[in-house]
Amino acid sequence: MKKSKKIIFANWKMKLGLKETFDLAKGIKEKFKDFDNGKIVVCPNFVPLLEVKKILKDSNIMVGAQNVFWETRGSYTGEISPLTLVEAGCEYVILGHSERRKFMMENYEMIHRKIKAIMAVEGLTPIVCIGENWDERKTDRRDFVLYDQIQQALSGIDIAANQEIVVAYEPIWAIGSGTAIEPSEAEYAHKIVRLTLNDMFGMKVVNENFKIIYGGSINSKNVKSFTGLEDLGGLLVGGASLDPEEFYKVAKATLI
Ligand code: PGA
Repeated sequence: MKKSKKIIFANWKMKLGLKETFDLAKGIKEKFKDFDNGKIVVCPNFVPLLEVKKILKDSNIMVGAQNVFWETRGSYTGEISPLTLVEAGCEYVILGHSERRKFMMENYEMIHRKIKAIMAVEGLTPIVCIGENWDERKTDRRDFVLYDQIQQALSGIDIAANQEIVVAYEPIWAIGSGTAIEPSEAEYAHKIVRLTLNDMFGMKVVNENFKIIYGGSINSKNVKSFTGLEDLGGLLVGGASLDPEEFYKVAKATLI
């Protein structure tokens, strides 16, 4: 059987304490023990990272972080260096999640600097989050918003042949709402993302070095209507990744 090239990311946000995080990592490791198709990446918050990495030893599950700073060392109280993430065994890092844009005032200039910093460090792949809010969608501005966010985040970024960038389309109004968007709408948005990237980097680079994924209220019930989408490189899963059985069902339906 041909292996799926798709990736499923679990974003555990700030939803769990330490013991809950370790129990979840153990539960997911057990559930996925015979699973060898596509990639699974779990993203705990910073403090449990090292222990989660240890728990997942001898499994195919990778570890990612939920944020990073754009400098590698210095007087930046409270921040985390990309180099430290690599030392901790992280292979991916979520950037500019809409919750950070909303609560931490993160903007695309900051996200751009973070992408640049990550691309300069060996072994880390950025997951760049984009997506319109409800008002932008309602007033028909989604296409421009996506175009603008991608331009701001990725203009002037150099990608080496062996590097990858994941772009996560996450309509803000669907995140945590319990209702994913219509699959056809996600497909359309992914087209906008791809065309914008093609314009900036050329089709060859986009085909080889980019993955476009969807995130927002994916669960085991609605996932099947997304898996067949033409341009789906994977999923970013929040709520449904907090239960091993539910997360397994989502992954199994996607990674076929
Ligand atoms: P959700 O979260 O699946 O709970 O909507 C997705 C995300 O915020 O990345």
